[in-house]
Amino acid sequence: MFNRGKEKKKEGVRLPEELPVLPQSEVVVFPSLIVPLGTADAAAIKLIDDAAAGDKLVGFFAQRPDSKEVTDLYSVGTAAVIARMFKLPDGSVHVFFQGLDRIELKKITQVEPYLKAKVEVLEDKVEKSPELEALVRNLITLFQKVVELAPNLPRELNIAVLNIPDPGSLADFVAAHINLKPEEKQQILEAIDVTQRIRKLTVFVNRELEVLELGSKIQSQAREEMTKAQREFFLREQLKAIQKELGEIDERTVEINELRERLAQAKLPPEAAKEAERELERLAKMPPAAAEYTVSRTYLDWLINLPWAKSTEDNLDISRASRVLDEDHYDLDKVKERILDYLAVRKLKPDTRGPILCFVGPPGTGKTSVGQSIARALGRKFVRMSLGGIRDEADIRGHRRTYVGALPGRIIQGLRRAESNNPLFMLDEIDKIGADFRGDPAAALLEVLDPEQNFSFVDHYLDVPFDLSRVMFITTANIVDPIPPALLDRMEVIELPGYTENEKLHIARKFLIPKQLKENGLNAEQLEIKDEAVVSIVRNYTREAGLRNLEREIGTICRKVARRIAEGKSEAAVVTADKLHDYLGPKKFRYEIAEEADEVGVATGLAWTPAGGDLIFVEATLVPGKGNLILTGKLGDVMQESAKAALTHIRSLTAREQTKLDIPKDFYEKNDIHVHVPDGSIPKDGPSAGITMAVALASAVTKRLVSKDVGMTGEITLRGKVLPVGGIRDKVLAAHRAGLKRVILPAENEKDLEEVPQEVKEELDFIFVKTIDEALEAALNQRASTNQPPC
Ligand SMILES: Nc1ncnc2c1ncn2[C@@H]1O[C@H](COP(=O)(O)OP(=O)(O)OP(=O)(O)O)[C@@H](O)[C@H]1O
Ligand SMILES: [Mg+2]
Repeated sequence: MFNRGKEKKKEGVRLPEELPVLPQSEVVVFPSLIVPLGTADAAAIKLIDDAAAGDKLVGFFAQRPDSKEVTDLYSVGTAAVIARMFKLPDGSVHVFFQGLDRIELKKITQVEPYLKAKVEVLEDKVEKSPELEALVRNLITLFQKVVELAPNLPRELNIAVLNIPDPGSLADFVAAHINLKPEEKQQILEAIDVTQRIRKLTVFVNRELEVLELGSKIQSQAREEMTKAQREFFLREQLKAIQKELGEIDERTVEINELRERLAQAKLPPEAAKEAERELERLAKMPPAAAEYTVSRTYLDWLINLPWAKSTEDNLDISRASRVLDEDHYDLDKVKERILDYLAVRKLKPDTRGPILCFVGPPGTGKTSVGQSIARALGRKFVRMSLGGIRDEADIRGHRRTYVGALPGRIIQGLRRAESNNPLFMLDEIDKIGADFRGDPAAALLEVLDPEQNFSFVDHYLDVPFDLSRVMFITTANIVDPIPPALLDRMEVIELPGYTENEKLHIARKFLIPKQLKENGLNAEQLEIKDEAVVSIVRNYTREAGLRNLEREIGTICRKVARRIAEGKSEAAVVTADKLHDYLGPKKFRYEIAEEADEVGVATGLAWTPAGGDLIFVEATLVPGKGNLILTGKLGDVMQESAKAALTHIRSLTAREQTKLDIPKDFYEKNDIHVHVPDGSIPKDGPSAGITMAVALASAVTKRLVSKDVGMTGEITLRGKVLPVGGIRDKVLAAHRAGLKRVILPAENEKDLEEVPQEVKEELDFIFVKTIDEALEAALNQRASTNQPPC
């Protein structure tokens, strides 16, 4: 397009004074450039024809904007020569003009048939200067950038622009190629001073470049987004193709197929399998976004993860089992025997159902831990669930799936946790199960425990039967009484009555101390707890049938020693009885009651609590008054009544001359009688303190001392009879624990001594009584010395 032979051309072409003029509306023609032009306009064709026939020279001038006259032209234009020309069959003419020089329009000389004007050549004003040099270089760089970015400019222009030595022509070349408005082009054309021209042009090129850069940024962003989306689409399509190839059509189908496979592995029994298949089909038809979908999916998960066919192999080696049981627990022979019997029967008859055992005993007697040990001996998984405070049937049997957030009950949950369908399942605190408007959990539990029903236990959530008959259930309770009879009926009760001092010493030495040492990072060289210290802990820091507190106190000692060793204060410790104060603080219980001085008006009763037996002290005192009976210490109705009965009996004695008691006849006329049972904040009730009340009252009235070494229990009647009571074994053990020497019991309770360990029986004297008088006889000593307050 660019004719570099300018010098030649200039020499070769001399412009005449007058030229035919082609007015241009939108186009500005620059010197040195080739301009194509096509026209069908008759005047223009005539002009071109005439020129072609002559010197071929034409003048181009642009029309001013909004011009109305043909003659309304800019004064600066370009002279050009016709380089090539075609006539097309439709009569139009196509011409290539070669631009030559800038010309100035001096005067229009002809209008019709086409314009003619007098013109004058305008020479470029070039002043070589560093500024011009810099402008030129800058312009070239800018233009090259424009060429890079502008989609419609050929790359060759980058080279072409470097080969234009004349700055004025360079500017014209650039101005002709970039995107400028006609007015702007005209401004460049009119700039005769080349420095001015380039300066002006630089502004326009810069603007153009900015526009192009912005455009390209927008473009590339759009392209980036496009490619990301395209890539994803492409990958998805590929995935689909692969799945199709493998016979898996889409994600959903993959999931459903996977579920189906896992269901097959779970080996569901036929009924459950049918239900699972139905649910699976429902799931396949649901849109994954539906709330129902998750519900259905969760249900299937439960079905899949239950141990329908997973079980552990029982270890039927009886001698090994016996060894394991002995390793973990001292004594408890009844429990161990029962487990070994069961194993023996299983060996002979493999489909024997597990017994449902119920361990009953005070806290800390090893119920839970022996359960764990049995699981270990049998090689079964162990799961434990506390029934304490459960009032809702759904806790056992689950909620129906129609409830939002429904889950299976705790039995099924426990089995899932066990991952085996024959674990040892321990149901703790079966005596603390409750019932209210939400249904009776005991009834649900009955279904769980009843061997006649539990092979098809239906959890509300699962809604299909699960076979519980291989599970070995063991329940625990502190006392038998609150256990619903229907449940009790199906269980085999084994009592864990609590331990004597000697047994505790033994267990501490063999089990508790080693266990606590290990838990606290100590070894036997670092801490020795002497036997006398253990006995002293049992007597003075704990008063319990079980071992909980003993273990806790031993743990406290271990921690204190561990700390001293860790701090580098000592290397090892030997704990004797007289050092216990340093470790455990002051004594918590009085053991040496029997050794204390006898007192008037205080009798020691033996009481039964869910934690085993315990001592209670009944105090009675006379104060001046009118025979009122004051009872304090949170006594229940039955206990208050037995206090009243005791008082009435004592009063009745005054009427009888033959009594050995020296009771003032009018004591109740001048005195009020106050009976108090300390530990006033703990509610107490029951008839078995009757005998203790009577002794305390009689002592207060007669001023005779009550022996400190004697404990008693027994219900009384108005007529002075003593009736049998319950919990004899625990009460006797409590007396023994507290260091008493003698125990007064109702005669009818003698048979109950069978349950009391021999060693305890040997250390206590038992006095069996049929009447209150006999009890008073045994409990009261001689009169107190004189300085007692008068009554
Ligand atoms: N005969 C025993 N031989 C060895 N350790 C025993 C014996 N009896 C109980 N223990 C230990 O005494 C602690 C308390 O026992 P466990 O927790 O089993 O009592 P529990 O009867 O379940 O009490 P609770 O009724 O309060 O649940 C345990 O650390 C246990 O190992
Ligand atoms: Mg327990």
